[in-house]
Amino acid sequence: MSLFVSREIVVYLFFMQIVRIFVGYKENQLFNINLLIKMKKLNRIFAIALVAILAMSFQTVGAQSLSPSTKWHWDKGTIVIDTPERPAGQEHVLGLTAAPIQTVRVAFVGLGMRGPWAVMRFCHIPGVEIVALCDYEAERAEKSQDFLRKAGLAPAAIYSGEKGYEELCKRDDIDLVYIATDWNHHFPVAKFAMENGKHTAIEVPSAMNLEQCWELIDLSEKTRLHCFILENCCYDYYEMNALAMKQDGVFGEIIRAEGAYIHELSQFWRSYWQDPNDNDKDNLHWRLKYNLENRGDVYATHGLGPVAQCMDIHRGDRFTTLIAMDTESFAGKDWVKGVTGNEPKEFRNGDHTTTLMRTANGKVVEIQHNVMTPQPYNRLFKLTGTKGYATKYPTPEYAIAGDALAGTDAPKMDNINAHGFLKPEQKKALEKKYYHPILTKFGEKGREMGHGGMDYIMDARLVYCLQNGLPLDMDVYDMAEWCSLAELGAISMDNNCAAVAFPDFTRGHWNDVKGYKHAYAEPTKEAEVEAAADAYTAAQKEATAKLNLWALYDAAKNAEGKAKAAAEKKYVKAAAKLDAQIAKILKAKK
Ligand SMILES: NC(=O)c1ccc[n+]([C@@H]2O[C@H](COP(=O)([O-])OP(=O)(O)OC[C@H]3O[C@@H](n4cnc5c(N)ncnc54)[C@H](O)[C@@H]3O)[C@@H](O)[C@H]2O)c1
Repeated sequence: MSLFVSREIVVYLFFMQIVRIFVGYKENQLFNINLLIKMKKLNRIFAIALVAILAMSFQTVGAQSLSPSTKWHWDKGTIVIDTPERPAGQEHVLGLTAAPIQTVRVAFVGLGMRGPWAVMRFCHIPGVEIVALCDYEAERAEKSQDFLRKAGLAPAAIYSGEKGYEELCKRDDIDLVYIATDWNHHFPVAKFAMENGKHTAIEVPSAMNLEQCWELIDLSEKTRLHCFILENCCYDYYEMNALAMKQDGVFGEIIRAEGAYIHELSQFWRSYWQDPNDNDKDNLHWRLKYNLENRGDVYATHGLGPVAQCMDIHRGDRFTTLIAMDTESFAGKDWVKGVTGNEPKEFRNGDHTTTLMRTANGKVVEIQHNVMTPQPYNRLFKLTGTKGYATKYPTPEYAIAGDALAGTDAPKMDNINAHGFLKPEQKKALEKKYYHPILTKFGEKGREMGHGGMDYIMDARLVYCLQNGLPLDMDVYDMAEWCSLAELGAISMDNNCAAVAFPDFTRGHWNDVKGYKHAYAEPTKEAEVEAAADAYTAAQKEATAKLNLWALYDAAKNAEGKAKAAAEKKYVKAAAKLDAQIAKILKAKK
């Protein structure tokens, strides 16, 4: 297990050492020259050791669930997490909008197992320009070009290496940085991107601890840039329809909800990337290593996101208290033993973690995490309402009280009661009536794009909101609330499962907005934006073909020796004409 040294401890030790050297030198000089020599030697050894520790602590970007800056205190048996004050001049970003972006210029960072499929999906979203592809490993970035080539879009610029994303983020022709790296790199990439004026979309979990949550909130509030959590499960068909039903009162008041990420990952552990800077001497790869080192629900958002939307979190209600409890690590330890031959002394993440939360309005949410033990995939998604019940796993069902649908013109609902689930034809009729408008727009295409369709719907919605200048479906406070379970749960469990009071990430504004809502453009405007997006993408494809960009790109890539520079120059020259060529085509078609 790698040594994690809190920056504060290091700074403290360093400070103490300075004091020691200074005081020790003075005393010894006055009283004992031999002692002085010994002290000096000792000090030198201490100083070297400290420099080594410092170097180790800053060598990696290793995020951990417990952030060094979190401050908390006990209040009548509850752990209260301090909320940092909103810096002067900063305002909340509820309902944040940015100027409409007609063509969304996007760059992808992190192209391992997950990232390339986002590139693929964006190739099918009109009005998008894929400007850059970046992965630690250049071949991975290069491989994702194939999606652009296949779609007839222009080649993207390639970036690689630990800090390749910095050059990418400094470009002035990117609107959105889409991040799908390992967990340790989500934050540094997002921070750098926002500091360089880019909207960010971050895979889940987008922030690994409270410090990162607060920094991203501050950045979004300061820069007025979007920081979007890529929580695809909010866009799954059952969840979206259930949200539409909830919003029309089908379940009455939702008083309790459950969500989970139960997915045994043994077939993936060895496929995750291995960070060469991360001292992974046991060859565990980043995700298993992160679980080994960190307690708490480290992957809470698939379960929590969709139910938080149904419960209007920070739109009229908020999480106030949490308690967490985990099992011992049995399977996790076994897995490590299987890999290394030795049972680890400690495996921080229990095999099954349960987090219970209470809200200001007296409701309860239960979230579970288990990536260790063999059992069917399950995100639970259960809503308990005063008039009905929805449950997605193992089979999607609804149970509705007899009078709940009176006056809603829901068909085929005679003789229902909540002691049994709706009959198949009743379920079908209910889902038809409440088919979510976002699914009507993007749902069918989503099904063609893999992973159940929800990923495409999420990406298409993100682009739709950016193109229309609308607030995004999830804001930076959603990101913080959903991701904070890791650290808050770890604090609870490390203190005998004590109650932990949530910080209010909106810093006083959780009750300003009433009810969760998606934003939509006015239909005429929406149609205009869509037409412009379609025209742009068609023009980009035409211009790419006309400029022969892929042939020139391949020639530059494959050329060797002296010919390489000339071939590269030819490609760069042609690529520089792309925008003008697109503009010409668009003008001719007007
Ligand atoms: N929403 C979902 O359903 C879903 C599904 C799978 C994964 N994910 C998330 O997607 C992310 C990626 O997961 P994965 O399975 O693809 O992991 P992976 O290990 O396969 O890929 C991570 C990639 O990040 C790259 N990377 C690391 N440091 C980098 C840096 N400094 N610059 C550029 N690239 C860097 C690595 O080279 C690697 O290719 C994770 O956050 C994961 O939780 C989400």
